[in-house]
Amino acid sequence: MPEFQTSPGMRDILPAESGRWRRFVQVFAEVVEAAGYGQIISPLLEDIGVFQRVGGATDVVTKEMFDFVDRGGRHVALRPELTASVCRAFVQHHPATPWKVFYAGSQFRYEAPQRGRYRQFDQVGIEVLGADDPYLDVEVIALGWEFYRRLGLNQVTLLLNSLGEPDDRARYVEALRAHFTTHLDALSEGSRTTLVKNPLRVLDSKRREDAPLIAAAPRIADFYSDAAAANFEAVQAGLRSLDIPFTLDTTLVRGLDYYRRTTFEYQGGTLDSAQNALGGGGRYDGLVESLGGKPTPGIGFALGLDRTLLACDDEGVFQVPPPAVDVFVVDTTGGLHAMAITAELRAAGISADRAYENRSMKSQMKVADRSGASVAVIVGSNEVDAGELTVRPLRGDDMQFTTPRSDLIDSVKKALS
Ligand code: HAM
Repeated sequence: MPEFQTSPGMRDILPAESGRWRRFVQVFAEVVEAAGYGQIISPLLEDIGVFQRVGGATDVVTKEMFDFVDRGGRHVALRPELTASVCRAFVQHHPATPWKVFYAGSQFRYEAPQRGRYRQFDQVGIEVLGADDPYLDVEVIALGWEFYRRLGLNQVTLLLNSLGEPDDRARYVEALRAHFTTHLDALSEGSRTTLVKNPLRVLDSKRREDAPLIAAAPRIADFYSDAAAANFEAVQAGLRSLDIPFTLDTTLVRGLDYYRRTTFEYQGGTLDSAQNALGGGGRYDGLVESLGGKPTPGIGFALGLDRTLLACDDEGVFQVPPPAVDVFVVDTTGGLHAMAITAELRAAGISADRAYENRSMKSQMKVADRSGASVAVIVGSNEVDAGELTVRPLRGDDMQFTTPRSDLIDSVKKALS
């Protein structure tokens, strides 16, 4: 065992998997930039107060934060999510609205690590601030849906709920509290603790003994004001008109406290149920205000990169080929020629690699093969004396040929075409 290893729940992403991560973010950026979203890159670290506004009753804030006091005496935390940071940035920079932004990056939550659940994990996501329109909710949900389609995932389902207006939600929470308190004996111990902090989160319990009480619990739909009901109807009609299938799930409350009205989750069909949420989001109309801004509507989602890639593995989609160079340069005369030739090729936009340490021809050809290159350029003493190069295709049936040193680029381009 080496003395140092990654901390629990944290991983090294090595080549070629790292290329897949980058491609994942690229595809996401293509989808959302085509809809007018610009990228925000915010710090990994914020004043802990920013995240505390996410909700004092959530595990993310109370149990899972990586926080510390910095050398200047500031209490800071590594971000556990990005919605609060985006709202903080909105209040700080007051951009024109609607402000449509996307992000990609690492988040940190001190959770119990297991497959699909890490302490450092990556998300991509979007947020829209300053517009309240049910068809915007539809746009946001549809963009996530489109992204999964681009990845090639077929087994993702969309769960949809509305938590109503804040008053509806508050009345519902009290009804839930009353319901669960009446049947306290039948509730699991874990859920009894949750009940005290946030009755809504009891609906999220995956413990088997809680299932009957949850099934019998009051339904949020019975608490909607007329406005909330009409808004939710419009969201559903919009999704139907875009042919996006969804399942209504009145127990979908999500793990963060800031949600109001529309909430949704994308679930994977292949993952363990505790880790099957590939992504989720919703409206959080009060969050900007709680961070010191003017009342501003907001909606967005975040999709877990790590988990979504596990779903891709399970479905056998979004496999990115390992990186390969176009040309591998083999030089048995010491390496000076290989150094110059690779530099010339790279400057001409042709990717090229080479072997080092003046190994034998045989061993360099082995590395050439492993490199995935289509063409080898070979320099031995014969070639140097004649002022030539040998160009050898490594795949297919084409024959190798010699070419004047000065024709390097043209000859390689021909061999690659
Ligand atoms: P969230 O549901 O906490 O929402 O996280 C979104 C996604 O991040 C999850 O569905 C999951 O795929 C991934 N995720 C969360 N925790 C972990 C973990 N420990 N390991 C691996 N993946 C994880 C949010 O973060 C909200 N900010 C979403 C949002 C944006 N709502 C409105 N705008």
